[in-house]
Amino acid sequence: MTQGFVDFCRRMMRGFRYQGGSKVSVYLDNAATSHTKPEPVYRAVENYLQEVGVSAGRGSYRQAQQAEDIIWSARTNLAQLLGAEKPDRIIFTSCATDAVNLALFGLLGRWDHAIVGGMEHNSVWRTMHELRRRRGVRFSVIPHAEDGSMRIEQIPRLIRRNTRLIVSTHASNVAGTVMPVARLGQLAAEYNLLLVVDAAQTAGCLPIDVQKMGIDLLAFTGHKGLMGPQGTGGLYIREGIDVHPLLYGGTGTQSAWPHQPRALPHRFEAGTLNGPGIAGLGAALEFILQRGVKSIREHEGQLLDYTLRNLPDSQKLSLYGPGTVDRQVAIVSFNIEATTPEEVSYLLDEMFGVMTRAGLHCSPCAHRVLGTSDWGAVRASFGFFNTTEDVDALIEGIETILDEI
Ligand SMILES: Cc1ncc(COP(=O)(O)O)c(C=O)c1O
Repeated sequence: MTQGFVDFCRRMMRGFRYQGGSKVSVYLDNAATSHTKPEPVYRAVENYLQEVGVSAGRGSYRQAQQAEDIIWSARTNLAQLLGAEKPDRIIFTSCATDAVNLALFGLLGRWDHAIVGGMEHNSVWRTMHELRRRRGVRFSVIPHAEDGSMRIEQIPRLIRRNTRLIVSTHASNVAGTVMPVARLGQLAAEYNLLLVVDAAQTAGCLPIDVQKMGIDLLAFTGHKGLMGPQGTGGLYIREGIDVHPLLYGGTGTQSAWPHQPRALPHRFEAGTLNGPGIAGLGAALEFILQRGVKSIREHEGQLLDYTLRNLPDSQKLSLYGPGTVDRQVAIVSFNIEATTPEEVSYLLDEMFGVMTRAGLHCSPCAHRVLGTSDWGAVRASFGFFNTTEDVDALIEGIETILDEI
């Protein structure tokens, strides 16, 4: 944000009749990273650093075993949460982007073809472009309706002889639109394709069962709906799927071999794991499993519903996405006429203490579908710890800006 922009907004605010209410601090950027975390997450990170401290899988002394147990327990909880066959099908990575790269680089070879969702985050979109540049991989993009919903019936006509996989986000990080992943799973099985899902916006927020939904590979991040620390994430790989590793190096097992071990998870976990991060994620998973994803979804759905019902009915306010709780995660994107998303987001923060995110949200494809490519939008995204009072602060801010503009 430039000083010129800030000065502009301040000048704009001077002309406002609004004199300022009680400015609070309301975090509505949970689609970027969830904040705050459940209390045990902070304690688990601290405990790992202070009391455990050592690397997992690199020694046979007691503390190394303790580190290994913490990591295995997080892996087991992830397998349970996602419906994976076994914990060793869960590979830890540093984030969802890392996991998406592992999946796509590990599966797509020279001249392969892929079918790619049209609402993807750059983690998929840029990776596909890099695969095209490096390996001549071709891809076709699935059409979407204006609210982001997928035109799944269009997929069969995109399939070619060399199509290997379908890759799609589970929910758009811009419009919140939920994609029909279980139907994609059926379609992929029918045409003998693999299904890769980017669950960055849904793991911990929506129920997921990789086996029931026919998902072959699922990338997730630890720091959004899973409520863990940044620097954590992972990839589920279904049994029987051959993926080439992205990283080669030390695994602490079969060290004399010149090549990566075949067994999971070590095959894909070269280098030292993020012990403190995974310990925090493990604590977050305990919290989520105890509460149940259904009750988390219910709470976030209520916040979404409350927002949609209480936003002002104004011609000057444009809302994006399906606008119904059953087809949308707790993300609300909007624009206000005659302002840029940056201005609105700045004003919401400066006047009301409401933190939102403006711009393209690393997803230019989604903005193309929504018709907001030029400026992007303002995005408010709710998490488990948000309340209806937080939504009230957002709505008061939007109403004031609408009155003043
Ligand atoms: C849909 C989607 N995919 C991937 C990512 C990337 O996640 P990470 O930052 O954990 O790599 C994000 C993060 O915003 C996202 O929303």
